[in-house]
Amino acid sequence: MRDRFGRPVTGLRISVTEKCNLDCFYCHREGCFSGSREMTAGEIGKIVGLATEFGVSKIKLTGGEPLLRKDIAGVVTAVTASRVKEVSMTTNGTLLAKVAGKLAAAGLDRVNISLDTLDEATYKRITGRGLLREVLRGIDAALSAGLTPAKLNMVLLAGVNEREVERMIAYTSKRGIILQLIELLETNGADFETYHCGLDGIERNLGKRAVAVRTRRSMQARRKYILSGGEVEVVRPMHNSEFCAHCTRLRLTPDGYLKPCLMRNDNLVDVLSPLRAGDSEGVREAFVKTIARREPYFRMD
Ligand code: 5AD
Repeated sequence: MRDRFGRPVTGLRISVTEKCNLDCFYCHREGCFSGSREMTAGEIGKIVGLATEFGVSKIKLTGGEPLLRKDIAGVVTAVTASRVKEVSMTTNGTLLAKVAGKLAAAGLDRVNISLDTLDEATYKRITGRGLLREVLRGIDAALSAGLTPAKLNMVLLAGVNEREVERMIAYTSKRGIILQLIELLETNGADFETYHCGLDGIERNLGKRAVAVRTRRSMQARRKYILSGGEVEVVRPMHNSEFCAHCTRLRLTPDGYLKPCLMRNDNLVDVLSPLRAGDSEGVREAFVKTIARREPYFRMD
């Protein structure tokens, strides 16, 4: 099913908890506000099953920090019960070392790990916690468990980590990890003017070194630079009409609302209430309504 702008819906990003053990100063919290309910693993599984009827084939589990849920392996199992093409997870990696094997066994395909720096002091400055070593162990465990291709999410922050790109390319290339360089999105918490860092210079440099450059249309038209021995993807959401024109994602908040757009909170659709009432048709209607409400946030004027 396509929305009014011709965009199919192929991905569902499910925030499974709003809790997090880090406190990154720029975090957009997946655009979620605190709610009183939390979906169970079984409910998440049922929603995914119905989502596939609308063309959803890729599931991303996110948070908060998904690994704070004690039943996270159960969530993965519930989701993989519907035969989707891919189930991945975005995690801060701090708790990954212990559970990577268990997640892989439950059917998780791959992980995206959020890591903006390889420097301890900078890590603490960004996240508020001194857990860099745990994250690095988590990454190694994920690779050993076969949660690949793994990606590392690095949000570029002016004056904080912008000089660390080379070091991060070296770290990820060596391990066969795809590096995603992410432009800071403007959200309430972050001092956007201070920390926003343009990616033009970095992209020019990558362009010169790349053996190939691809545009991944199904992934919000992001560019992928194949370097000799490494891969870098560049994610530029801000004021980018191309990014929105190629958006194929819906979001689901931990308290069971479908969210047509990361950037908005005024058009959510309750999907958990009909589900809890045993009304599958109501759940389908919630999807139809959400897809009808989808519109590009950044558009060409
Ligand atoms: N801008 C860009 N990316 C962000 N993330 C969180 N907040 C922001 C923001 N303001 C990204 C982090 C994390 C993912 C879940 O969301 O990189 O990897």
